[in-house]
Amino acid sequence: MRSAVATFLWLAAQAGAALASPRPAPPAPFQTFTNRTIYDPHGKARVMYPRVAELDDGTLLVTASVMGSSFFSRDAAFPIFESKDAGASWTWISNLTDQVNGWGMSAQPALLELREPLGKFKPGTILASGNSWSSNGTRIDLYASTDRARTWQFVSHVAQGGAPNTTNGATPVWEPFLLVHNHELIVYYSDQRDPLHGQKLSHDLLTWGPVINDVAYAEYLARPGMTVVAHIPPLRKWILVYELPVGNSSSYGSHYPVHYRLADDPTQFDAAEPIAIVVDDGKGNKIAPNASPYVVWSKEGGKNGTIVVSDADRAAVYINRAGGDPGKWEIKDAGQAEAYSRALHVFEKRQEALAVIGGDSFDGNGWGGLSLTVLDVREWWGGGKGCKERRA
Ligand SMILES: *[C@@H]1O[C@H](CO)[C@@H](O)[C@H](O)[C@H]1NC(C)=O
Ligand SMILES: *[C@@H]1O[C@H](CO)[C@@H](O)[C@H](O)[C@H]1NC(C)=O
Ligand SMILES: *[C@@H]1O[C@H](CO)[C@@H](O)[C@H](O)[C@H]1NC(C)=O
Ligand SMILES: *[C@@H]1O[C@H](CO)[C@@H](O)[C@H](O)[C@H]1NC(C)=O
Ligand SMILES: *[C@@H]1O[C@H](CO)[C@@H](O)[C@H](O)[C@H]1NC(C)=O
Ligand SMILES: *[C@@H]1O[C@H](CO)[C@@H](O)[C@H](O)[C@H]1NC(C)=O
Repeated sequence: MRSAVATFLWLAAQAGAALASPRPAPPAPFQTFTNRTIYDPHGKARVMYPRVAELDDGTLLVTASVMGSSFFSRDAAFPIFESKDAGASWTWISNLTDQVNGWGMSAQPALLELREPLGKFKPGTILASGNSWSSNGTRIDLYASTDRARTWQFVSHVAQGGAPNTTNGATPVWEPFLLVHNHELIVYYSDQRDPLHGQKLSHDLLTWGPVINDVAYAEYLARPGMTVVAHIPPLRKWILVYELPVGNSSSYGSHYPVHYRLADDPTQFDAAEPIAIVVDDGKGNKIAPNASPYVVWSKEGGKNGTIVVSDADRAAVYINRAGGDPGKWEIKDAGQAEAYSRALHVFEKRQEALAVIGGDSFDGNGWGGLSLTVLDVREWWGGGKGCKERRA
């Protein structure tokens, strides 16, 4: 019986494949590949700021913000895509729409699968957040799916602020990032509400207790933003990356240089030392990664594993195999076009496999769609490109 079922599924798959042609065949699953399309909006919208979550069974979910013709759109939604073959092929499975504000799910999504019960939510519940905005305000809202991202229910407003406006003195909230730690949900977000700080990073728990500062600068113009956090098990540390606008000055040509902090506890970043990432390009030039960073950690690469950071300006990524030692950053070609707020992912059961996921650039210079590259980071140690299928 089992083989009959398998044969049926195989025939169905062949039929599906035949119907789908002349679409090019996807790369073989569980391989490395470059710039595989997740979603092509065919010029009707710009898709950017992707976010990714791996589910317990290895399924990948990706979402992104979609910017249509108008900045404010009550129809704006986060499309949700699913891959069962480690990123080789993708299915559009749902749209996360705004169910409460009448403002749309405008930008800056976040995704996370619960691996333990939290409040009334069981393991396997998928949480999503994002910024719902209109000319009346910004709201970081939380949604949940109990059917593997097919349908979504509104859970709560996490934080709200003034209309989206990056001028100092304006009061919006931005860019949530979700993390479960110590049986609590942490929502990191950028908070421009405090007039003393212009903007600071804060995080609230599911019961949305008081705001805790992660990174607050006394200087009015310094608006740290775009927080992403990762765990580094061998160091028993957490790393937080963020961009720090430096106004008219620049750090090696970068106006939003990427900084990081290492802390024993992911709720205690405020006291940690800020460190700017500066990399030697091997030709004696210094490079400072710029804007919308992302960070992940892989077990591969030695005793301390490898910290991998992405920025907005280069196809490359920045790696550190020395436990975050400020003098030990390297730059590695990743082959996935530079883009606004690319996401990174290390496959849980294949620590060598690094996905770099990108959409459009902030200024709209990209092709507008969503794609990913999967690399084998071990190839870098031997001087390789990390990807056998690299074009050009
Ligand atoms: C998502 O929304 C778009 C635009 O309304 C629609 O074309 C598409 O079919 C929806 N996809 C799913 C899976 O619901
Ligand atoms: C903004 O608030 C005003 C006043 O309450 C209301 O009339 C208007 O419909 C609101 N706009 C949106 C997009 O919610
Ligand atoms: C943005 O905020 C600044 C500072 O509060 C304000 O002066 C400006 O009018 C705002 N811009 C818009 C488009 O509302
Ligand atoms: C940045 O440069 C512009 C033009 O030179 C100037 O008007 C502005 O005051 C400068 N801003 C800061 C923060 O120095
Ligand atoms: C690992 O990280 C620790 C803490 O930063 C550092 O002291 C040590 O030298 C690192 N080991 C290697 C092999 O880089
Ligand atoms: C990635 O793929 C898209 C869609 O085919 C294409 O438009 C774009 O030029 C590709 N980018 C690179 C860097 O190859």
